[in-house]
Amino acid sequence: MDVMDFELLVDGVPAEAEAMVDGSAESLVVLRDGDAVRAWLNVCPHAGRRLDWAPGKFLLSKAGQLVCAAHGATFELQGGQCLAGPCRGEALRAVSVQVRDGKVVLAG
Ligand code: FES
Repeated sequence: MDVMDFELLVDGVPAEAEAMVDGSAESLVVLRDGDAVRAWLNVCPHAGRRLDWAPGKFLLSKAGQLVCAAHGATFELQGGQCLAGPCRGEALRAVSVQVRDGKVVLAG
């Protein structure tokens, strides 16, 4: 199932998309990294809130890390690890995605 058009993604700027993951409709954080793409559930491990402050509007630190809009947990965007804040040491839940025919699709 298509998640979104790859060309809509700006390198290093997280975007939000909806997809069916394990049978449920989920909001995803989708990140382009050159020709590659990564995704995580748009759910903060701290209190289960969405990471964006409005749909698709994510806060980034000056270092390009994703900052949860609820209580400021900060995540690196290689592996989704929380580096600072109330869930430090935990991680975003990764969702396997890939680029196929110009679309971001769920892998597997
Ligand atoms: S829900 Fe994200 S920091 Fe609390």
